[in-house]
Amino acid sequence: MIERTLAIIKPDAVRKRVIGEIINRYEQAGLTPVAIKMIHMSKSVAEGFYAVHKARPFFDSLCTFMSSGPSVVLVLQGDNAIKKNRELMGATDPAKAEPGTIRHAHGTNIEFNAVHGSDSPETAGFEIGYFFPGMEIFG
Ligand code: CMP
Repeated sequence: MIERTLAIIKPDAVRKRVIGEIINRYEQAGLTPVAIKMIHMSKSVAEGFYAVHKARPFFDSLCTFMSSGPSVVLVLQGDNAIKKNRELMGATDPAKAEPGTIRHAHGTNIEFNAVHGSDSPETAGFEIGYFFPGMEIFG
C-alpha cells in the first residue's frame, strides 16, 4: 500500500553533516521525498509537534534539543512507507538499534537519536499536516 510518512533529520544529524547520507538511504530504500524543507523549530513548535509526549519526564529536554538548531523535515512516499522508514531508522535508543540502521550509524543516545519517523497512519496524518500544507507536497 502506498503511504506517506513524516521524517525529521534532527539537529544532531544536521550538525554532523549527514543530511545527504540519510536522504540517500530513504531513496535507495524506495521512499521518495515528496516534500522537504529545513526549519529551525521554536520551542513552542517542538512542543506542539511532540504534544503526545507532554507528560513524559524527557519532554522539556526533548523540545529544547529539537529547537537547538535547524532540522530537515520531509514527507516520504512509498510502499509501506511508515514501517519501512521505522526499519531504516532502527530502535529509538541507538544503543539498541540494529547495525545498518540510521540510528545505529548516527544517533548519540535515546534523546539525540538523529531521526524521527511517524509511528502510525494517524500520527503520519497529524505530523505531515503540522509542517506541510497540501500545496507543498508533490506526490
Ligand atoms: P522520536 O522518534 O522523535 O519520538 C520521541 C522522541 O523522544 C524520541 O525520538 C527520542 O528523541 C525521545 N525519547 C524517547 N524516549 C526517551 C527517553 N526515555 N529519554 C529521553 N528521550 C526520549
